[in-house]
Amino acid sequence: MSQLLRNSTEPAPYERITVSRIAGAMGAEIGGVDLAKLDDATFAEIHRAWLENNVVFFRGQTMTPAQYLGFAKRWGDIHLHPYMKGMADNPEIFEIVKTETETKNFGNRWHTDQQFCEEPAKATMLYALETPAAGGDTMFANLYLAYDALSDGMKQMLSKLKTYNMGDRKYGGQGRAERYNGGGDTMAGRVAPPKEDMNAAHPIIRTHPETGRKALYIGSHTDRFDGMTKEESDPLRKYLMQHARRPEFTCRFRWQPGSIALWDNRCSQHYAINDYTGQRRRMLRITIKGDKPF
Ligand code: SIN
Repeated sequence: MSQLLRNSTEPAPYERITVSRIAGAMGAEIGGVDLAKLDDATFAEIHRAWLENNVVFFRGQTMTPAQYLGFAKRWGDIHLHPYMKGMADNPEIFEIVKTETETKNFGNRWHTDQQFCEEPAKATMLYALETPAAGGDTMFANLYLAYDALSDGMKQMLSKLKTYNMGDRKYGGQGRAERYNGGGDTMAGRVAPPKEDMNAAHPIIRTHPETGRKALYIGSHTDRFDGMTKEESDPLRKYLMQHARRPEFTCRFRWQPGSIALWDNRCSQHYAINDYTGQRRRMLRITIKGDKPF
């Protein structure tokens, strides 16, 4: 009987929403909400579930762009992507589309959003409008668990290091501008390549400003350790990139039209799987401003 009683260290139960974990490492599906009509108490529970699970998902949502923006603005000010143009009638939202004739997709590498900015995006949300019959899932990795699993010696050494994170232009063939400017891709014409490369130095061990937990803050924008050459940095950088995406730290979300994912870039990476060529996928993406990592 005592096993059925809640321990005082366990999180309080949710009263307005259901929260179902989708993997051991992270990620929870939230039920019982209509995001177009959200009251403050329900929002507070969603916010708590988000902090506890790194990424949360909703199903069966129907929202106008204005309602979607209204939900987004509960999380903070909108972060405008420095390279990508928003929709003509809704510049704070940008559309991610892969058509039946395209072969490349957006976000097809492990990354945390806008790590090359001094103040990277805190949160990103994606609203699925059209999805392939199968494929086009998104994977997420928990950067708290990646930090926790490091040895004490490695944690101590990394605590003194910063990374140097670069914007996409430097990635040449993998960069968004190059990817989406050629070959009839639907993103062509919507990309506004920056006049100068963007970059920012951040601590590789980041403390989450809301939970106080430490995370291994690394992603594909991480080019090298600050103050070191690329050659010096690469063995450790590559090791940590591999470590951060160990399957035990991840979850995978299968989209349907009306699904929404909302992830915390301060403690997670994500990866858009490109396994649905010949089918169409269309999503609406909004990012929320963050603060300077410490
Ligand atoms: C992204 O990296 O923001 C895109 C993720 C996705 O389309 O699944």
